[in-house]
Amino acid sequence: MVKNICCIGAGYVGGPTMSIIAQKNPDINVYVVDKNEKRIDEWNSSNLPIFEPGLDKVVNESRGRNLFFSTDVDKYITLSEMIFIAVNTPTKTEGEGKGYAADLTNLESCAKHIAMISEKDKIIVEKSTVPVKTSEKIREILNKYAKDGINFQILSNPEFLAEGTAMRDLEIPDRVIIGGEQSEKGKIATDLLVNIYSSWVPKENILTTNLWSSELSKLTANAFLAQRISSINSLSELCEETGADIDEVAKAIGMDSRIGNKFLKTSVAFGGSCFQKDILNLVYIAKSLGLKKVAEYWNQVIIINKHQRSRFAKKIIKTIDENQLNKKVSLLGWAFKKDTNDSRESASIYIAAELLSKGIEINVYDPKVELKQIRKDLKYIKISDEKLSLINYSENHYDVFEDSNVIAILTEWDEFVNYDWKTIYSKGFKKKYIFDGRNILDPIKLKEIGFIVDSIGKRA
Ligand code: UDX
Ligand code: UDX
Repeated sequence: MVKNICCIGAGYVGGPTMSIIAQKNPDINVYVVDKNEKRIDEWNSSNLPIFEPGLDKVVNESRGRNLFFSTDVDKYITLSEMIFIAVNTPTKTEGEGKGYAADLTNLESCAKHIAMISEKDKIIVEKSTVPVKTSEKIREILNKYAKDGINFQILSNPEFLAEGTAMRDLEIPDRVIIGGEQSEKGKIATDLLVNIYSSWVPKENILTTNLWSSELSKLTANAFLAQRISSINSLSELCEETGADIDEVAKAIGMDSRIGNKFLKTSVAFGGSCFQKDILNLVYIAKSLGLKKVAEYWNQVIIINKHQRSRFAKKIIKTIDENQLNKKVSLLGWAFKKDTNDSRESASIYIAAELLSKGIEINVYDPKVELKQIRKDLKYIKISDEKLSLINYSENHYDVFEDSNVIAILTEWDEFVNYDWKTIYSKGFKKKYIFDGRNILDPIKLKEIGFIVDSIGKRA
């Protein structure tokens, strides 16, 4: 029986996952550690560092009972029999595989550290998304730095939670995958983790595999999901040219039970920390193995995604130029999807960058993302301070429309649907354009008010 679990990385994955494990296993102590002191302080406060519907309730139930957040990494590694690693593994920005491969520095340094300080056998669980066969590398590091006689078992247990619905996804997962070594010891380790999940997940939904199948399943599940979005987004352009309506087409396709109706919503492009990173990773792995056609196939998913957000930005720029409008755009939504404060790889970043490059001023409003983060996102993609000065931040949705006659909707927040669009229209400029990057507004109603509407995948 496992009595103490430690999770390194109190982020979007580590925090919610451990909170549910603690809630469902009151007999196990769960310690979430992170080197970032501010983040840990926030986890210990009433103002959690990440916004995720339902998370507060789960944390409040277990925190202080059997769920603890701490910066004392060494203490809890030493104490625990099972250690999850949920540190970030971003796409490499330099060195071999730059722009494609996952940067495993964080993961590798965690493995080394665990090995160096461990005085008893431990099970190490890979939670971070990793390239196939990472476990081999982790094993090498653990063996190299382990003290004499100490053994480690490695499990792969990828996360399938989607932000915004993370708590539901964790509570009622479609499946839990646990990959382990095909040996007696590997089987014992796998069973220990199966037991933890089976406190609330039906046994038939817990899939045990070998390590590499598990690692590859995570990458490819995300690649498949992203592929569906690129497929529908590529058709949205075709619809705009032909007069077909993308929502009608998506509905018709999705009613085929072999295809299914989920993940067919056209958008301004997919974002988030996983999809692009995982596909780039898949492309890199395929290339490294000499599988050029396979690499090209998956890379196309990324190409369409970039094309989708760029053509959206270009439509706005063209409208401003052709109609000699005030060079100011009201941008609604910065998060990569609704119900999260996460903006990693959000389409908004790239669309804003393209507008800024044309000297267009931007008023941004997002219910959960703060100006500090917006500036950080733009700086990360090397937007100059001069261009950054063209960003204005609105604390509320009333100010965001000031001096602008172009509105772009980039995140599908519910509150945008419920705005009083009639009043918004009546303010300021006579001619107002709406570019609905999420197709959440009713174009017919908006046109009746007087707006000129451009919805993705529908003829203007
Ligand atoms: C997760 C996964 O782990 C990643 O592989 C996946 O692709 C995206 O989701 P996430 O939880 O979203 O990452 O990342 P983040 O919110 O950045 O949290 C990671 C945390 O790990 C940070 O708080 C960081 O401070 C911490 N960390 C990182 C450590 O405590 N130690 C380290 O050595 C590195
Ligand atoms: C994803 C996977 O769904 C999850 O299983 C994995 O563990 C992490 O990566 P996440 O990125 O949090 O989760 O959110 P998801 O709901 O998958 O959305 C990703 C992006 O795709 C968002 O920008 C979203 O707006 C977009 N999207 C999603 C569409 O454009 N259309 C859709 O039909 C669905």
